[in-house]
Amino acid sequence: MDSTNTWVFKFAASGYDLMTAQDLWRRQIARLLDHVPTPPQRILDLGCGPGVSSFELAERSGAEVLGLDFSERMIQRAQQRHVKEFAHLERLSFAHGDAADLDLPDQSVDLVTGHSFLYLVHDRPAVLGEIRRVLCPGGSLVLMEPHAHGTLPSAAWQARGQLGQLWQTPWDTSRFCTSMALWRIFGSANGMLSDRSVAQLFGQAGFANIHTQPTLQGLGLHCIGRA
Ligand SMILES: C[S@@+](CC[C@H](N)C(=O)[O-])C[C@H]1O[C@@H](n2cnc3c(N)ncnc32)[C@H](O)[C@@H]1O
Repeated sequence: MDSTNTWVFKFAASGYDLMTAQDLWRRQIARLLDHVPTPPQRILDLGCGPGVSSFELAERSGAEVLGLDFSERMIQRAQQRHVKEFAHLERLSFAHGDAADLDLPDQSVDLVTGHSFLYLVHDRPAVLGEIRRVLCPGGSLVLMEPHAHGTLPSAAWQARGQLGQLWQTPWDTSRFCTSMALWRIFGSANGMLSDRSVAQLFGQAGFANIHTQPTLQGLGLHCIGRA
């Protein structure tokens, strides 16, 4: 992550979960598990931010989950929320660390997730190499990243059938739309992912069964590979 992003995430922890601690974002996170062939036992959630993704994955899977983030402020926020709101998730823990240099043994997890994470990473090959190292044989990597070929107008057009439903929760919907607009701006500055870049990056790191699937009306891309 470059120094501007490090600064942004250091100071954005509280504002970030104001935007993302909501049902629409949580439902998106839960969809990561749709790409896993067997129930995972041990999940590593990279770039967990203030914990929203790790809470949802732990709640849905019942697996042991480790949420990891580069920003100490994000990890503090995640730990506070864990104690106050999610104390029942006893198999969840958080750690501060760099995904490019994981303090985990080889072949020690069976699912690595990243929800809106890899696009922020400066040295993507180094991070993917580390993920490949810690995944058990047959384990999965499932990411959700901003999609280089999505656009806000085309997403709004595709979502037109859900307008009635979205207006029933105006606060959540407006926070979600704001977070999507900011995500696109941040994604453009950092480099979004495409089918092609995923095939290349995952292939070079030694992943098999690489595939992608657009989500969020084309604004997001699920990126999947097996160790
Ligand atoms: C956009 S937030 C996503 C948070 C959460 N996964 C969610 O969906 O709500 C991305 C996070 O990735 C973290 N990050 C970026 N590069 C990282 C790295 N090399 N190692 C660990 N965390 C990193 C940032 O600090 C930031 O908190």
